[in-house]
Amino acid sequence: MADFRFTAVSTNPMQNTLRFITLISFVLLNVNGVFAQVYARNGLVVSSSAIASEVGRDILKRGGNAVDASVATAFALAVTHPTAGNIGGGGFLVFMDSSGTATSIDFREKAPLKASPTMFLNEEGELNKGKNLYGSESTVNHIGALSVGVPGTVAGLYLAHQKYGSLPWSDLVQPAIDLAEKGFPLNWSLFQAAAYFEANSPIPFLRDYFKNDQGEQLEFGELWKQPELAKTLKEIRDYGRDGFYKGFVAKEIVRFMKENGGIITLEDLDRYTAVERKPIKGSFKGYDIYSMPPPSSGGVALIEMLNIMENAHLDSVEFNSAAYFHLIAETMRRAYADRAEYLGDPDFNLTMPLDKLTSKAYALSRFNSIDLTQASISDSSKFGQMYDGSHTTHFSVADAFGNVVSLTYTLEHSYGSGMGSSALGFLFNNEMGDFNPQPGSTNRDGQIGTDPNLIQPEKRMLSSMCPTIVAKDGRAFLVIGSPGGRTIINTVFQTVLCVLAYDMPVDKAIEATKIHHQWLPDRMYYEEALLSPDTRLVLEEMHHTLVPVKVLGQLMGIQIDADNKIMMGASDSSSPDGGAVGY
Ligand code: DON
Repeated sequence: MADFRFTAVSTNPMQNTLRFITLISFVLLNVNGVFAQVYARNGLVVSSSAIASEVGRDILKRGGNAVDASVATAFALAVTHPTAGNIGGGGFLVFMDSSGTATSIDFREKAPLKASPTMFLNEEGELNKGKNLYGSESTVNHIGALSVGVPGTVAGLYLAHQKYGSLPWSDLVQPAIDLAEKGFPLNWSLFQAAAYFEANSPIPFLRDYFKNDQGEQLEFGELWKQPELAKTLKEIRDYGRDGFYKGFVAKEIVRFMKENGGIITLEDLDRYTAVERKPIKGSFKGYDIYSMPPPSSGGVALIEMLNIMENAHLDSVEFNSAAYFHLIAETMRRAYADRAEYLGDPDFNLTMPLDKLTSKAYALSRFNSIDLTQASISDSSKFGQMYDGSHTTHFSVADAFGNVVSLTYTLEHSYGSGMGSSALGFLFNNEMGDFNPQPGSTNRDGQIGTDPNLIQPEKRMLSSMCPTIVAKDGRAFLVIGSPGGRTIINTVFQTVLCVLAYDMPVDKAIEATKIHHQWLPDRMYYEEALLSPDTRLVLEEMHHTLVPVKVLGQLMGIQIDADNKIMMGASDSSSPDGGAVGY
């Protein structure tokens, strides 16, 4: 594949013409490719499970549009990529049709009706700690049945299909049922999870999750069948949204919650609705940016950061230099401070200053506050935020009609709460942990207690997910997103910057060195294998505190050359099982 890196779609039209001749033969040869990087003419799906990408591609081949393929891919991921693919969690979908009209579907989980701002506090008003699934210490808002938000995925996919799908709903759920019923070979990452949970899981559901018909732990490569999940999916296939929020699935969810100390009721499930929202829109260097509005902070912070960067003379800022990382870290610091102060569920926070935060004028004032020679200090007397793990999943879809979908959804932590009913076969999220758990309590460890994101009945918790579409002249140009908790906005930001400002093809942009700064804690996290010692030294001299991490982001992107009708998809090399599949 490496020989073809230089045939990628470019922002430079001259280069595209030269690349086209080489590319066309490659396209014709790779009509069914499953690679980390793939070219296609008619449709493309890039997800963290190559099997799920194939499911989406097959739907496209049958004449389905990008929304149809997204619904099918999302259900398939719930079977093949259960660390984050789900029906027991929630997320966001951003859609742009062939006329350049963009919309979004919000299917973020909600707090149950019985939830309250202080539900996780003990009698002294403190937030207790306990052990999470992985044996590490965690605050209680991420543990157990109380950490489960009312799931949104099925309602969201159903709404997207009702409004924008074209193939029958049942055709889109069926491939996931087949995968669950007939099984698929247990891959290496699932096998490792299976071995870990069998030995360590405090939760019986996860201990038994990867067992075969005889109740034995599966071997690597053995078919993993999930008959209970298949049964749940059949109910969803036959009854749509109601197959999850009413009937035997809903009753079993509520029974399970009651038995395990949870508070989700039939009324919560019945009342849950997904919402269509106008995407957040911005611009950068002549491109239009569409991303997710609140209750995600993703779109607002992304656009604020791109606006700030528009004021920098990037032509003279070398990519990968200390000056580049300093500039983007300072940009991140400012956007994340605003995120902490202002953002939450728009249905509960009616006066969020979204126009201001995404305006060019505000970005200029933020840019002017950056000292190009040294790090600012994050004011820890104000608000702070914690660094999250990296288990959510994003996929990007483009169809032959010119429609694209950017979808990110999650269970919050890897395998969510780890809890599930053995009769239903799927995992519940632990998304309640994304609310601010202790009103008024903001501390240097990164916990925040600001009002916009306090727990209230039926409120959606603030997210960082950032499914994004970049368009040029009303046509989709880049479809991108990532998992990674708070790091999501920054990895998407840097990838968009690499493509639009540094003219990298999307595959190269996905692999490019990333950093992460989230205001508080006041740290610059960097990918340890990718930042040179010299650059680190200069950054430290500028008073940045550097913290190495293995990898940032697991981006799944599609870049489209609409004039030449070529799509290029790339799945991050950090994704062990991901794949771009086109035709
Ligand atoms: O919505 C959010 O921002 C988080 N629940 C996403 C979680 C994630 O990416 C993985 N991390 N813990």
